Amino acid sequence: MTLRPTAGHELRDGGGGAMELRALDADDWQLLRDVRLRALKDSPAAYLADYEDEESWPEANWRRRFAGSLWVVAQEGDRVFGLARAVRVDERPPDERHFESVWVDPGDRGTGALRAMLRYLEDAEPRITDWLVWVLNDNVPARKVYERLGFHPTGERQPLADGSGRSEIRFRFRTDGAE
Ligand SMILES: CC(C)(COP(=O)(O)OP(=O)(O)OC[C@H]1O[C@@H](n2cnc3c(N)ncnc32)[C@H](O)[C@@H]1OP(=O)(O)O)[C@@H](O)C(=O)NCCC(=O)NCCS
Repeated sequence: MTLRPTAGHELRDGGGGAMELRALDADDWQLLRDVRLRALKDSPAAYLADYEDEESWPEANWRRRFAGSLWVVAQEGDRVFGLARAVRVDERPPDERHFESVWVDPGDRGTGALRAMLRYLEDAEPRITDWLVWVLNDNVPARKVYERLGFHPTGERQPLADGSGRSEIRFRFRTDGAE
């Protein structure tokens, strides 16, 4: 299933620039590739994926990433500076969505881009009340950001299989205010 994108809309950020949010569709796969590779290069420790791996992916792999996912970018004019994705995970309850592949360009952090992208994705699926995200335990800034955005740890933890001793911690946000 490919979730239906909603129309793009504009808002103002704290820095005074115009921030436009736009859903991507599969024909935007090259833009997705560009931004995703920027994210992996910029913040390799924040993700389990590898730049070298995804850099060699063919078009079909990128197009497949739109199945069951709604991708949003934050941009100012043609300059894209943020990326996030809402995913429906098959083996999970149908009323849950999962935020993944979240990234904001370092020069644009702290201006509300992530807050705006997550709200955009929530608005696109108003019946979904349960939003989940995995965060690596040593990604302290991201953990603080999610807590600031109203997420709470679920108590679930997944050790990484790479022997590093690191683990992923799950956070949940409920739009109905429950914890
Ligand atoms: C995590 C990340 C996406 C946050 O994006 P962002 O656009 O800077 O976040 P926002 O500006 O929307 O901030 C959301 C809230 O968190 C706060 N915040 C932002 N950065 C913070 C930090 N480093 N520490 C504490 N709070 C922070 C903001 O003040 C804001 O709260 P407010 O609106 O009440 O002031 C960005 O830092 C990033 O791309 N990091 C590298 C990749 C990464 O870690 N991805 C997450 C993988 S799970």
